[in-house]
Amino acid sequence: MIGVIVGSGFEDLRLEHCLDRVFQTPFGEVDLTTGRWANQKVALVYRHGKDHRYAPHQVPYRAQIWALKSLGVSHILATGTVGGMSADNAPGHMSVPDQIVDYTWGRESTYWGVEGFKCQHIDFTEPFSSLLREALLESAKALKIYVHNGGVYACTQGPRLESAAEVRRMIMDGCDMCGMTAMPEAALARELGMEYAMLCASVNWAAGLSGSTIAWDDVKQTMANVVVNMKKILNDTISHLNF
Ligand code: HPA
Repeated sequence: MIGVIVGSGFEDLRLEHCLDRVFQTPFGEVDLTTGRWANQKVALVYRHGKDHRYAPHQVPYRAQIWALKSLGVSHILATGTVGGMSADNAPGHMSVPDQIVDYTWGRESTYWGVEGFKCQHIDFTEPFSSLLREALLESAKALKIYVHNGGVYACTQGPRLESAAEVRRMIMDGCDMCGMTAMPEAALARELGMEYAMLCASVNWAAGLSGSTIAWDDVKQTMANVVVNMKKILNDTISHLNF
């Protein structure tokens, strides 16, 4: 089955023939919805909860990924909003990153040590699934919606936005966009043997890059505009997947 994890801007997304469930996991409860999207069976997780109650550092990542695996999900498409740190990631643009630098701390970021679960040092050379990345990019191309191929996603702790110096440092580290949720999500999916890729939308210039402070109301407007195309891309991608 296909899993979809949606972030900010997708609160009104509904599957067809959907069933809302509260799923119990060893890591707590997860609200998720199963149903159909583009004629495929899909399990949908609202990363921040349906009422947006989890800030990025509070998201129950382990429970959410565990729940998807337990339902038989093998491939996860995720969405995320980011602050742009390179020309390819100007506000309003989308990208499918191919690398991650993890700046988060204190998050439950592994299943290692969980009773009954044998965890190893997973390979994370390529943190995102090439199969799902290609699928997203193919759909964007078919729909004639420009999506940048690649880029380094810097995962910051949040919930505050970054300082200008933090952004300068991340640019020097080779990062192209910063968001708050790809980690530990991507690593947990890998630990459980699931394919995972993220469609990102830049909704602001990262701190210090635009000459002004970041107004979250402007961010929300950019988000609302770009989400329309993100949904189209997801719809097409899902329609072509066969799991
Ligand atoms: N930084 C981190 N996460 C974000 C940003 C940002 O500037 N914009 C949207 N998500």
